[in-house]
Amino acid sequence: MFIIACGGHQGAIEFYDRHPVNEAQVLAAVARRRGSGTTSLQAADLFDFDQDHYGGLPAVETLARKAGVVSTSRVLDVCGGLGGPARFLAHRFGCRVVAVELNAGRAAGAARLTRLVRLDRHVVIARADATALPFARARFDACVSQEAFLHIADKATVIGECRRVLRPGGRLAFTDWIAQPRLGDLERARLRDWMAATTLQTLDGYRAMLGRAGFTAVEAHDLSDEWRPILRSRLEMYRALRADTIARFGEAWYRDYQQVYGFFVGLVEDGKLGGGRLSGTA
Ligand SMILES: C[S@@+](CC[C@H](N)C(=O)[O-])C[C@H]1O[C@@H](n2cnc3c(N)ncnc32)[C@H](O)[C@@H]1O
Repeated sequence: MFIIACGGHQGAIEFYDRHPVNEAQVLAAVARRRGSGTTSLQAADLFDFDQDHYGGLPAVETLARKAGVVSTSRVLDVCGGLGGPARFLAHRFGCRVVAVELNAGRAAGAARLTRLVRLDRHVVIARADATALPFARARFDACVSQEAFLHIADKATVIGECRRVLRPGGRLAFTDWIAQPRLGDLERARLRDWMAATTLQTLDGYRAMLGRAGFTAVEAHDLSDEWRPILRSRLEMYRALRADTIARFGEAWYRDYQQVYGFFVGLVEDGKLGGGRLSGTA
C-alpha cells in the first residue's frame, strides 16, 4: 500500500504526480475516440476526459451559476487541475478565467491542453499555492473550486484568500468532500495518508468558516446522495483505465490506487463521508 507521509503540501503534490487522470491519459482518450491525432482539437473534444471532479460539466455549470458567472466575469478557479473546468467556463460563458494549480506537472499540462484547443487568450494557468494567491485584492468577480480544499489543511486561509481577491459583491462557490458525524479518526487518518486528504470539514464547519471570513448570503448544500452513484461509476472509470495506468505507473501502483479509491467510495456508501456545495458573497 502506498503511503503519502509528507507534511505541508508535499502529500498532495505526490498524490497528483501519479494520478490516473493526467494530461497523457486525456490525450490518449481523445485520440482513441477520434481515431486520429490531436490536430485541430476543440475544447469540447476534451470535456469528457479533463474534468477531475464529481458530476462533470453540469456540476461546473451549477457552480458557475452559484458564483454568478456571466460573459464579462473575471473568474478564478482555485486548484484548477488540468484546467478542464476553466476551459469549460470560458467555452460556455465566454468569460476570462485564471486557474491556479500547485502541482508543476499538472499546471504545465493544463497550459499545454489550453494552447492545444486555442483557449489561451481566455484561460491563463498560474502555478501557485491556493493559500497564498499571487493576485491583488478585488481582482476577480467570481471564485470557484471543485474537490480540492480537502488537500489543504489551512482551509480558513484559502477561504480568506478567496475573499481577499474577490471584489465586494463577488461570489465564491465551491464543492468539496465533507465529513459526516460517523467518520472515525482511523478513517480520517487513512484518507490523509492514502489520498492526501489533510483535514476534512463538516458542512456546518464550512458554513461557519465562510461567515468568519466575512462572506454573507452563505448557502450550504449536502450533495452526498448525488455523489454516491457518481463515485461508483468513477471507480469503474479507473478500472477501465487499467492498461493506461499500469503502462504509466506500474501494476503495484494500479492495485494500490484501486484499493484506496475503493476504501474512499466505501466510506461514501456507508454515509461516513459525503460532498457539499458552499457559496457566499464577498
Ligand atoms: C481533484 S483535483 C481537482 C482539479 C479541478 N478542480 C477539476 O475539477 O478538474 C484537486 C487539485 O487541487 C490541486 N491542489 C492541491 N492543493 C493545492 C494548493 N494548495 N494550491 C493549489 N492547488 C492545489 C491538486 O494538485 C489537484 O490538481
